Amino acid sequence: MLKESREPAMTEAVAPNPKYRYEPKPVDEIVVRAFNFDFPDDLDPKWAKNSVVRSHMFNGFSLTMPYLEPYLIQSTRQALPLIKDERLQEDIRGFCGQEGRHYVCHRRLNELIKKNGYPELVEIEQRMERSYARLQTRSLETQLAYNAGFETMTAGFTRWMTTKRWALWGGNCPWISSFWVMHMVEETEHKTVAYDTYMACSGRYLRRAIGVLHGSFHVLGYGLIAMREALRKDGLWGQPGTMLELAREMGALLWNVGPSLLRAMRPGHNPRCDEDPQWQKDWVKAHKHLAPDAPVPLLDTSDPDMPVPF
Ligand SMILES: [Fe+2]
Ligand SMILES: [Fe+2]
Repeated sequence: MLKESREPAMTEAVAPNPKYRYEPKPVDEIVVRAFNFDFPDDLDPKWAKNSVVRSHMFNGFSLTMPYLEPYLIQSTRQALPLIKDERLQEDIRGFCGQEGRHYVCHRRLNELIKKNGYPELVEIEQRMERSYARLQTRSLETQLAYNAGFETMTAGFTRWMTTKRWALWGGNCPWISSFWVMHMVEETEHKTVAYDTYMACSGRYLRRAIGVLHGSFHVLGYGLIAMREALRKDGLWGQPGTMLELAREMGALLWNVGPSLLRAMRPGHNPRCDEDPQWQKDWVKAHKHLAPDAPVPLLDTSDPDMPVPF
């Protein structure tokens, strides 16, 4: 875990951007929901029935979250004294509330993945802990650009996970599928916050464009390193069939997520420009009718339509 006692970033290098003006966001509010998936104790880390590579790839991305998301919260909170607009302050509270619930749940999943076959992943967790500690010594502007960059990538993941839900999750573990989809639904709900925080504190284009690459490839890189480690453990790394499957899964990742990175790197980009997927909007609307303490119903991964589960 990141240490609370770490030296704060160089906030003096950042000043409020006098040109920043808050614009209304596409959602009415950023709702902090219960995010409490009850994974079975004997959860199979190879949960994607037709692709061990996909299982380990998403498990690898999950492994990064208890390091990435606490860092996102801490760095965003450091910017709060520079934020004058009360609406953005409120958005930041929602953002931190959602991210805080995400990583706690990812940590529970990651413990199960390690316990149920892959204890070697702890070494990659230690590397990530050191890497995020180093990132926290960089300037606040660099950190906020990283945050804005990473968060733009999630738009591509949400579109991929909701519009191609059958291709990704069909027939697969309903806990993992529902968990990832709900995470990305909430990522899209708070998609404006890291961008707005950066724009309110800096707004410089080049830093933000570099942040898209920095934030995205740092997280993807560690996720893929963890995937390789798990495939090695299985004795599959380097096998022709595995490498073909890897090429297919990486192709799908680049095809579905790459365009949002390219769009985010354009001057003048604002996450508000991207229309949210209808399924994501339907999920958010339907969730309002769920009782506050009710567990989130799981997706029916045997139904090719995979409707919103409320
Ligand atoms: Fe998150
Ligand atoms: Fe996020």
